Amino acid sequence: MKRLTVPQIQRRKFEGKTDEPLVMLTAYTARQAQLLDPHCDMLLVGDSLAQVIYGLPSTLPVTLDMMIAHGAAVVRGSYHSVVLVDMPFGSYEASPQQAFASASRVMAETGCAGVKLEGGEAMAETIRFLTQRGIPVMAHIGLTPQAVNALGGYGARGKSQEEHAKILGDAKAVAAAGAFGMVVEGVMEELADIITTSVDIPVIGIGASARCDGQVLVAEDMLGMFERTARFVKRYANLAETISQAAESYAAEVRNRSFPGDDQVYRPKK
Ligand code: KIV
Ligand code: NA
Repeated sequence: MKRLTVPQIQRRKFEGKTDEPLVMLTAYTARQAQLLDPHCDMLLVGDSLAQVIYGLPSTLPVTLDMMIAHGAAVVRGSYHSVVLVDMPFGSYEASPQQAFASASRVMAETGCAGVKLEGGEAMAETIRFLTQRGIPVMAHIGLTPQAVNALGGYGARGKSQEEHAKILGDAKAVAAAGAFGMVVEGVMEELADIITTSVDIPVIGIGASARCDGQVLVAEDMLGMFERTARFVKRYANLAETISQAAESYAAEVRNRSFPGDDQVYRPKK
């Protein structure tokens, strides 16, 4: 099977296939990518790896080198999905030129199909600069975790009239600037619906209701790796319990000397 392309993803919105939403999950490692890839349209190497993999308190400390290392692993582990890599905090906001220098490294050193960056109207010029120079960009608006210090937390956005208008303006601005799609995170259903019908590029929701052209979740959230998750997460497995039970069994067998057993031992052939 040939790998999907960014134009194919973008066209899905016009092919009367909005009844078949786009499927996206995060992936950070090669093996995880191998397992998720056949079921997805897009794999996102999210900067959420900060909390999920590195135990960091927010996404702000993530570096370009971290994103490149994980991005390359996910590209190596997948052959079907479009792989997108998050631009980390501080690597793109200063100017379109800074964004191009960072994004071109991500593209060249990982082999991914495009980048995602946070911000609406304020990033429109940068999105235009990158897309005109061959770098597909997915925007990320609404709840933008890199702006946690400015937003004052991770609560849902678009509750007030002003915020609602601001986020709708962001959606229109990034679409006009040439983004091939956008993630809309943590917004009221009504706003997600208006955004999705107002722009001609795919809108991928997370905590943004079913009124979007697709959905994304952090894979570890969906797999039940964490006790506490946001309200919008649905768990499809309980890996935390599976892993704890496996570790408990292993530890018990090592301690009572039933592991390694006869099947796991090298001995001369008889
Ligand atoms: O970093 C991430 O995982 C993301 C998705 C949740 C959209 O940006
Ligand atoms: Na992210």
